[in-house]
Amino acid sequence: MMYKACLFDLDGVLVDTAIYHFQAWKNLGKQFGYELTEEQNEQLKGVSRVESLNKILDWANYTATQEEKSVWLIEKNEDYLRLISSMNPSEILPGVLSFLEQIKALGYKIALGSASKNAEIILDKTGLTPWFDLIIDGNKVSKSKPDPEVFLKGAEGLGIAPEECIVFEDAQAGVEAAKAGNMKAIGIGESETLFLADKIIPNFIGVKAAELLQF
Ligand code: BG6
Ligand code: MG
Repeated sequence: MMYKACLFDLDGVLVDTAIYHFQAWKNLGKQFGYELTEEQNEQLKGVSRVESLNKILDWANYTATQEEKSVWLIEKNEDYLRLISSMNPSEILPGVLSFLEQIKALGYKIALGSASKNAEIILDKTGLTPWFDLIIDGNKVSKSKPDPEVFLKGAEGLGIAPEECIVFEDAQAGVEAAKAGNMKAIGIGESETLFLADKIIPNFIGVKAAELLQF
């Protein structure tokens, strides 16, 4: 099987924004006296802003009004935007640029498949934008991971069959989305959370693309 495209999640795969999302949700939770844990945060990875808030309110056993929710969604994002405002190319995760260079040289198409509505800002701040043939972000999808929509739109936009795509994900929901879309999934992180992936690597440091992309 010859694979033709690599579809990348953004947060936690290419850049370490996962820590900023965690920080911003933790700050928000304090407003209703809730302390978000790291294990819970793991379940928010890959999940949209609205759904993340709903999950947190659920855990906190807090019934919020529509009004409160709208205000908190804005506040969380303002906090997050403040946290990412000084991002720069040094925050690209180790090994990522070398990996992108390798797959480009090998002829793979490269797309982004992120739930984030802030993806373009982050790609611009870190200088990653030129690597991408296509960007599908949270503004272009209506269904959140684990629904495969974001990756299927990526494949479609590139004109490549889902079966010829390889997805890179740090979130359980993202790996599920890739598998639901009939794609190969490479998990970036720990096997405890990413066990559904076809392969798992801790990060991109020293990774040889030609070997990793063999299935
Ligand atoms: C995903 C993150 O990439 O984007 C989630 O893993 C985040 O934590 C989601 O909630 C939505 O991001 P944003 O930037 O639109 O709030
Ligand atoms: Mg992610």
